[in-house]
Amino acid sequence: MKQDMTIKWLETVDSTQDEIRRQLKVLANLSVVAALNQTAGRGQRGNRWETRPGENLTFSLLLRPGQDGIRPVPAADQFLLSEIATLALFRTLSDYGIPSRIKWPNDIYSGDRKICGMLIENSLLQENVSYSIIGIGLNVNQVQFNPALMNPVSMSKITGETYDIREVLDRFLGHFSEELDSERPLIRQRYLSHLYRLGELHSYTDCKSGEVFEGTITGISKRGLLRVGMPDGTIKEFGFKEISYII
Ligand code: BTN
Repeated sequence: MKQDMTIKWLETVDSTQDEIRRQLKVLANLSVVAALNQTAGRGQRGNRWETRPGENLTFSLLLRPGQDGIRPVPAADQFLLSEIATLALFRTLSDYGIPSRIKWPNDIYSGDRKICGMLIENSLLQENVSYSIIGIGLNVNQVQFNPALMNPVSMSKITGETYDIREVLDRFLGHFSEELDSERPLIRQRYLSHLYRLGELHSYTDCKSGEVFEGTITGISKRGLLRVGMPDGTIKEFGFKEISYII
């Protein structure tokens, strides 16, 4: 499937997510828009995603499940898209000898530092995902970061090497198409096997109550909620924005 992916490299754009959205009607399935510089990169929770021009990988991929031989993704299973993209990222970093873990739902950490963030915007039609815009910001060659950021790291900071960002993207796309074709129960299994903090006791904040507690991540629900063993012995499920990791 990789052969069918078209990559458009832009010098500067506001946001590759927004560029895909503007071109939605004309872009083929599996189109990729990558930019050397984003002037209004968007992150999760309405945050900005800022990186130094030319140093990192910032791109978005348009996926239309259920078309061109790609299996449909039921709306109820849309977490699968996070699993596929994070696994492809995990494998890309492994190719370069960089150890990483998937921090639920879709960040990639190396040690206790964030090396990659993802913004997945899905559009639903009836029971299925009609299209998904998967936006990825991977820190590649940047070694100096805004001190206001909590815990950033890059491939270069970890290894001391400099990387060709186009090659990193090609590797990611190869892994992404393999993951897209693989058996869904196996995707879930492998996602869990690389999950940050699985089975370990750590501190979290319950965002609804503001309470800090010690808990243990035990897994992921069918719909992609985070399952956490609570101090009282129960298992509680958290959605995105309902739990914050204390790192
Ligand atoms: C996060 O907050 O962790 C998610 C960051 C996602 C950033 C990427 S960079 C490429 C794409 N275009 C955007 O505007 N955002 C995503």
